[in-house]
Amino acid sequence: MSSTVDGHGIQSFEKPRYVIKRVLAKPQHEGDGAIVRRSIGGSELRNLDPFLMLDEFSVSAPAGFPDHPHRGFETVTYMLEGSFTHQDFAGHKGTIHAGDLQWMTAGRGIIHSEMPAAEGVQKGLQLWINLSSKDKMIEPRYQELQSKDVSRVDKDGVDVHVIAGEAFGVRSPVYTRTPTMYLDFTLRPGTQLHQKMPESWNAFVYVIEGEGIFGDSIASPVSSHYAIVLSSGDGLSVWNRSSELLRFVLVGGQPLNEPIVQYGPFVMNTQAEIEQTIEDYHYCRNGFENARHWQSQA
Ligand code: FE2
Repeated sequence: MSSTVDGHGIQSFEKPRYVIKRVLAKPQHEGDGAIVRRSIGGSELRNLDPFLMLDEFSVSAPAGFPDHPHRGFETVTYMLEGSFTHQDFAGHKGTIHAGDLQWMTAGRGIIHSEMPAAEGVQKGLQLWINLSSKDKMIEPRYQELQSKDVSRVDKDGVDVHVIAGEAFGVRSPVYTRTPTMYLDFTLRPGTQLHQKMPESWNAFVYVIEGEGIFGDSIASPVSSHYAIVLSSGDGLSVWNRSSELLRFVLVGGQPLNEPIVQYGPFVMNTQAEIEQTIEDYHYCRNGFENARHWQSQA
């Protein structure tokens, strides 16, 4: 189970993870005039338990994601460039900027808007993490971290922002109801990384910038806008043999192993629960009460 460091400083794992699938996230329209690159949640990769969706969004006002509901999972918005303002039907409102993070537990129901808050292109990642059946109807909750409060380590040419979980001995304060790790790595040219991970968790990488070699030192490089699904294993090795920075997120989670029935922004376990949710939303009840008199301020 443990990893070792040999005399050359090269860390090896008992069961290294390797790439089992590559998915190019092609641009598609979403929300109101917004463009997203969807990897998880698209036709090539419906989900990767507990992950339901990963979008890299690129949005300029007046486009955005106006008032819409969620139930049954969490949305994690991580800004890469620019700013986004969110408002919800319970009066919660805020703006996140590059490097900031919003971890929203929709639970039994949220209606909100997510809109650009600055001129130009706003970019970020939005990840949807499923909640287990026992957590789907919990009260909504927010965890927000500003960039300055995100744990960060810069060591041997590798910079990491610890969004969730742990890296290089540093832990994120974010509470993950579904056990999750979410690490934002930048590797300078000529560097390598060996990151331990729980062996049975499902995990993927999404490349934001540059190109890297993942899992096997002789594998072909993976470039930006690709998601790669990893095999099970106790760690991942990454090499940046290019002359540019390599930036990617490494995300892993403990699978829920429960049935998934999704209807757009509602994710439950059964068709009956989805029908109930559509009714609750329509009649503003069971968590959607505030919808009756709410509309976001444009
Ligand atoms: Fe949303």
